[in-house]
Amino acid sequence: MKNKKHILDVDFSSISRVLLRVDFNIPIDKSKNEISDDSRILATIPTIKYLLKQGCSVLICSHFGRPKGSYVDEYKLDIVSSKLSELLEQDITQLDQCVGIEVEKFSKNMKSGEIAFLQNLRFHPGEESNDSEFAEELSKLADLCVNDAFGVSHRNHASIDKISNYIPIVSGFLLKQEIDVFSSVLKIPARPLVAIFGGAKVSDKLKVIESLSAVVDVMIIGGAMSAPFLILEGFEIGDSFIEEGAVDSVKKIMDSISNNHCQIILPDDFIVSDSFSENSNIQIVDKDDIPLGWRIMDIGPKSVKKFTKHFVTSKTVIWNGPMGVFEWEKFSSGTKFLAEKIASLNQCISIAGGGSTVEAIGFFGLSDQISHISTGGGASISFLEGSTLPGIKSLVDN
Ligand code: 3PG
Repeated sequence: MKNKKHILDVDFSSISRVLLRVDFNIPIDKSKNEISDDSRILATIPTIKYLLKQGCSVLICSHFGRPKGSYVDEYKLDIVSSKLSELLEQDITQLDQCVGIEVEKFSKNMKSGEIAFLQNLRFHPGEESNDSEFAEELSKLADLCVNDAFGVSHRNHASIDKISNYIPIVSGFLLKQEIDVFSSVLKIPARPLVAIFGGAKVSDKLKVIESLSAVVDVMIIGGAMSAPFLILEGFEIGDSFIEEGAVDSVKKIMDSISNNHCQIILPDDFIVSDSFSENSNIQIVDKDDIPLGWRIMDIGPKSVKKFTKHFVTSKTVIWNGPMGVFEWEKFSSGTKFLAEKIASLNQCISIAGGGSTVEAIGFFGLSDQISHISTGGGASISFLEGSTLPGIKSLVDN
């Protein structure tokens, strides 16, 4: 990121108002109306504190959920701004709109050290359509925009991309740290370099499997997304979940990467269940023995052992996607054992990304034993695919 401007490169003597783009699209436990994971909020605090120290007023903006361009009460950011206020021990004004005359007037009267929060950017259709007029209206609220929203930097949205036509954007501490970690893995990885993928859908990971196969030494594929790989090898998968067209897509990818030196490792056994429910009957079966009417819910003990053997000596591990339905105890062991093994690796850089992977690591109490927990799921995958993220492209050149 040396070629892109960072807040540390900015002379704040002539800047009083900053618009800070964050990604506070965070999980809420609806039964308690509580935030269930505040790590995306905590990760932006160094940037907020730095801006306040420079004497700026900080107007924070974020999206939250997918309200599709209209004002939906359920997706108001008030619960998030209250949490931030509690964490910073400072009052924060929550505005009810994200653009408009009133918001503009408010921003002009903000004092040094004051923080306010715009209402959800996605309540306005212009955000997701990357609309110029909306971006221009946002730009009127500040002298400088700081992007600390790594999690949404793969989206071509107005507050990430088009806004750069009207106001300079620089990276905050979080965005820079994320990009630096992922860039160093791609450019100068400590080897052996192992990628571990899981989750239900292979379609989200096809491109990254293809690009990373040219870089990593070993690629481990677990979770329900291993099903199309098994079919390709001639195994039956019973009633396991499989996306339409997944086998053909996987075949194309496997053909295209066949000359890469990377070793692809698949599970040898699974925990299967007779229905998709927490209280279903379960059994452990080998990959060639998945009965009709049963579905893959987790990897089995032989697979955990096999996977561990392939990453135990690695110097870098990238992990995205759980091995099973870890939220239900009967299907949590594969993800849990894997997480524990990764957490216990000595002299290994472990990087985890993706909402459910991060949730699983937190669930098993291992968050402080992973070298880097990314705040971006889709964004980290896009970066690893080799795509240019709009949120990086739009930063001012240094
Ligand atoms: C995320 O949580 O992955 C980001 O906030 C992006 O959200 P989106 O997938 O709704 O664009």
